Order: sequence, then C-alpha cells, then structure tokens
Amino acid sequence: MVSIIKTLTTAALAGGICASAAQAGGTVEVLHWWTSGGEAKAVGELKKAFESLNGTWIDSPIAGGGGDAAMTALRARVVAGNPPTAVQLKGPGIQEWALEGALNDVDGVATAENWDSVLPPALASIMKFEGKYVAAPVNIHRVDWIWANPDALKKAGVEAMPTTWAEFNAAAEKLRAAGIIPLAHGGQPWQDATLFEDVVLGVGGADFYRKALVELDQAALTSDTMVAAFDQLRMLRGFVDPNFSGRDWNLATAMVSRGEAGFQIMGDWAKGEFLAAGLVPGVDILCAPTPGGGFVLNSDSFTFFKVSGADNLAGQQTLASLIMSPDFQSVFNLAKGSIPARTDVSLDAFDACAKLSHDDLVAAIANNALVPSMAHEMAVPRSVRGEIMDLVTAFFNSGMSSQDAAKQLAAAVARAQ
Ligand code: BGC
Repeated sequence: MVSIIKTLTTAALAGGICASAAQAGGTVEVLHWWTSGGEAKAVGELKKAFESLNGTWIDSPIAGGGGDAAMTALRARVVAGNPPTAVQLKGPGIQEWALEGALNDVDGVATAENWDSVLPPALASIMKFEGKYVAAPVNIHRVDWIWANPDALKKAGVEAMPTTWAEFNAAAEKLRAAGIIPLAHGGQPWQDATLFEDVVLGVGGADFYRKALVELDQAALTSDTMVAAFDQLRMLRGFVDPNFSGRDWNLATAMVSRGEAGFQIMGDWAKGEFLAAGLVPGVDILCAPTPGGGFVLNSDSFTFFKVSGADNLAGQQTLASLIMSPDFQSVFNLAKGSIPARTDVSLDAFDACAKLSHDDLVAAIANNALVPSMAHEMAVPRSVRGEIMDLVTAFFNSGMSSQDAAKQLAAAVARAQ
C-alpha cells in the first residue's frame, strides 16, 4: 500500500491521476491556523495535492496567528471524543498528546519511505513517540529574522541591514526621524514573545537562550543578561506605532510591504506574505538574521489523531506520504516562506533568504547554536510558555522595570513547573 501511495503521490504531483488513486486517498479533516494570504496559499497546495490523489479534504481552519485559538479548539474536540484526523501541531505538544494516548502512528509509511534517512535527527525525534512516527514535518521555519523595506531604509539614510542591536536601534531612530514607523508589530502575546526570544538570543547567545528558555534555569532567568534582554525589548517597544495593540502579524507585514514601516521582526512566514504580494525577497524586501549568530527553529508538522475506520486511516497514510514527498516539500515551502524539512530537496528554485536560512541552519548545527523556539511551542510545555508569554506581554504593555521583569519571569516559570 505504501509504495502505491508513493507512486500515486509522484504521479499526481506531476499532473497525472490514475483510476486506482481513488482507493488510496481516504478522508482527512485537517485542523490548522493557516488563514493569512501566504498561509492559505501554502495549505491550498496541500489540499490540492491530496485531492489529486482522490482524497477527500475537510478543511478546519481556526484563525489566529501562532495557533493559540487552534489549540483551544483542538482540546475541545478531543474532550468531546471527536478529534480531527490531522492537526498542525509542534514540539513538546506532540509528545503531550501522545502521552494522553490521543495519537495514531504512521510508522508503516515512515519505515517504508525511510524518513529517518532524510530528516535532520533533531526533527525526526520530535515527530516520534516511543520510536514510532506520529507526525510528519512539512517545513523548517526560522524565527530570528528582520525584514525590511529597502525604499524606507533608503529614505531614512540607513545603508545596511543591522547586525547588532545597537545598529538596529540606530537605524530605527533614523527611520523615526524620517517619519517612518521603525518597527511594524502586532501586540498579541505570541508576537511579543517572538520579539522577546529573538532578543534573548541576540543579547545572551545560544547557550544562554538554552539555559533560560529551554532548561528554565532560575539563575539564567534572573541574571543581568536577562535584565539586559528586557532593556532591549523596552527599546523595541519604543519603536512601535501607537496602534499596535491586537494587530494581526500579517497586517504588520503589510505595513513593511507598503513602506509605511521600515522593519518587522518575525519568522519567515512573513516571507510567505511578501511572496503572496508579488515581492521578491532579497530584492524588494530585505532579510537579515536578528543579531546573535544563532538559529531559532520552528517546524510545522501534521500530527495524526486517534481516528478509526478504513477511510480515515487511509487518509492519514496518504497525507503522511504526501507531506514527506520531495516534490510536495518543494511546492509547499516555496509558498510558505520556510525551507523543506527534508534534507535532500534542492533549493535551486528558492529565493536568497531561503538559501541563507539553509546555510545558517547548517552552520548553527555545526556551532551548537541551533535553539528551539519557545514562542512557537518547540521548547517548553504549553503551561510554561503561557506563563512566559503573560509576563512578557505585561512588561511590553506597562512601565515594569527590567529588573522586576526578570524576577517575575523566574517566579512565573517556577509556578508553572
Ligand atoms: C507557525 C507558522 C504560522 C505562524 C503564524 C507559527 O507558529 O509555525 O506556520 O504561519 O505561526 O500564524
């Protein structure tokens, strides 16, 4: 069956659908939060490819960047005994659901297609529970990016993308002086947390990031380095326009597209928006890693929930095989802004920012500077992430001192553990 799916996948992506595909397709209900322009385009590619295998796709989008609303909806569905077939899910969340006995495995497909040999080991282990694949990764997103409008920078006399926070702050001041909003931002807890973790990496480096936001070490959380990170976050707060509160991330991205704002600090799903707007990354929109010399990893995957019935099970197998097919990984990521999760997919058709992401990822692995995203659920349990986000957002929206923020952060983390 697996090899049939593989053949069908390749045939369908090449445009040919044969009659026997109908038996292999099955049905999937897919819960995801990809509702912005670039995201919808990318998930549309998955739907199209699945349907071309004669599968039935039931779309369950839950709007809300970062996926917090989707995760609440998922919990309600599982509690009601009616889980979706496949769910956009990540990191420790996969293990948490597996421990609850809520998942099916797709290990038959994974073994037959030798996923172990084409996935970075760090990613493969996130997808497995008790040695079996329960999820399939679609991409590698990088969180630590600065995006910029080159015309806005030019108008403000900023000659190069910043490589240190001091340079970022100086460039932002120039943008402000030129009447341009320095930093496009949407005031939602996950967006504040995205800024925060990039700053923690930039100020403290990868080892410090790991100690503080992965190991949750109390000494790191209350350290002078953490205080300095909050100081820089306070600077960023000052570069945001007065209407930032509650703004969706993609609306902030559009401010950069239009040149109304100079910079956005956001993962490369923002690139999916630039691409959907017809802009060429590296030319019409500039990209540079946030300072710090690391790589903050975020990978989307689809996790297979415990459903039964031949049609649903066939749907899960077809989807798993399709997601991991090299052609699909290329088509999907060209729209999503990320790079393929598979290591053997050519990046020739990808833009300069994607190529930089790949090169920096390889370098970060070699230098032990690859860190998992806390804001995007790759690092710590949801309960801990929730406490960190609440504190960061409270800091962002008040006059709280950096010293108090570090102390309260450590206390919040201790409470959640
Ligand atoms: C996901 C991305 C998504 C972004 C904004 C992130 O957590 O990994 O796929 O585009 O949230 O919704």
